[in-house]
Amino acid sequence: MNEFGIIGVGRIGASMARNMLSKGIKISLYDKNFINSDNELNSSLIYDDLAEFVNSISKPRKILIFVPSGGPSNEVISELIQNLDSNDIIIDGGNTNPGVSFDNHQKVKSKNLLYLGMGVSGGVKGVLKGPSIMIGGDIKAYDQIKNSLSLITSKTIDNSQSFKLFGDSNQGHFVKMIHNGIEYVEMQLISSVYYLMINSKKYNYDDIAKIFEKWNDSELQSYLLEISIRKILEKTDDGHLIDRIDDEAEDNGTGRWMLNYAIELGCSVNMLNAALDSRFISKNKDDRKKISEKTEVSHRDFEIDIDALTKAYSFCRLINFIQAFLLINSANKKYGWNISISDALNVWSNGSIIKSSLINSLYKNYSVDNIISDKKIFKDLNELKSGLIDTLSTSLKNDVSVPCFNEALIYFNQMSSATLSTKLIQAQRNYFGSHKIKIN
Ligand code: 6PG
Repeated sequence: MNEFGIIGVGRIGASMARNMLSKGIKISLYDKNFINSDNELNSSLIYDDLAEFVNSISKPRKILIFVPSGGPSNEVISELIQNLDSNDIIIDGGNTNPGVSFDNHQKVKSKNLLYLGMGVSGGVKGVLKGPSIMIGGDIKAYDQIKNSLSLITSKTIDNSQSFKLFGDSNQGHFVKMIHNGIEYVEMQLISSVYYLMINSKKYNYDDIAKIFEKWNDSELQSYLLEISIRKILEKTDDGHLIDRIDDEAEDNGTGRWMLNYAIELGCSVNMLNAALDSRFISKNKDDRKKISEKTEVSHRDFEIDIDALTKAYSFCRLINFIQAFLLINSANKKYGWNISISDALNVWSNGSIIKSSLINSLYKNYSVDNIISDKKIFKDLNELKSGLIDTLSTSLKNDVSVPCFNEALIYFNQMSSATLSTKLIQAQRNYFGSHKIKIN
């Protein structure tokens, strides 16, 4: 009998299977459409019949699901619960919407089964080597899998393993969703920097990679920066790969969900909003082409102050994390959760896509669970702000948009202002709608 079952042997499921097998964990695999191009998976048991797969796993069964979230994973769960026995454990390892994760927990519970919603970060390579795992759900189920998770994860900044139970049902998927929102903005910031530099016509790909490498040898190091350098330098027979890549950026929904949560909670995540907008705008390729033929933009060469740009990039990264932290705080307050931001940073510090020196520094040097009362972060932001203003003025004067940079400054200036323009908004609302106003 095998200890774990994995349903869905796509890219992430296969990496997880290989990771588990390499640690001596016995597994059964189930995938109706399984194509075995992966020799290392030959040794494990692969089933295309659900009942046979279930019967090959020792009780209480622990079954990991790695199928696309939403429809497909809901279908798998519905089918699976008909085939399991009391106290068996269903673990949803996909990028699942926290609301859906909550509903699935209820569905599973009603059949006397246990549920874990498990956000897994690291991509194909990271999941193979030691992913970052964010869990929500039944503690009884968590207790039964934690030893195995210790074997397959990485060492974090506090020397623990990169997995954590954050709370009930959907809180693991919520933390993973926040991770992805941070990821979207980090990716956009790097892309905006690359775009500004290439459009200045003063830097070629090698020059950009050199500056990124310098950053990567400093406190600006991050996995996303590292892979960006690789992709910027990558060549094909016809030249640089990046010249041939289409600029329409896709998304799988996690950023949209986080924005929806922010709207529901009345929180600003304007950097994530800009990162998402930038992907949406990129998809309007035909319209962009038509409009570009009718408009005039600057085609001049221009100088970039790299010191200012470095400061601007650092500033924006801090604001991105502040926005994510404040969203977690609001969710904790509204839903009665107790998600620890330091625990989230610890779990993200290794194995995740957003692992970086900044995460380590935030964990060690700042009071992240109460960021508003942290003096250091605002001192840092004040020192870095001039660099952002300089970079933005370069971008505005030369018609090069740098999504997320503008939003970081608007957010910071508003958040650090004791009085806002919204005074007049209140007066306008009061005039046309007799809405109540508060008089100081
Ligand atoms: C990770 C990634 C992973 C995936 C996302 C990216 O942590 O390993 O976040 O979950 O790459 O789907 O999201 P988009 O496809 O929406 O960019």
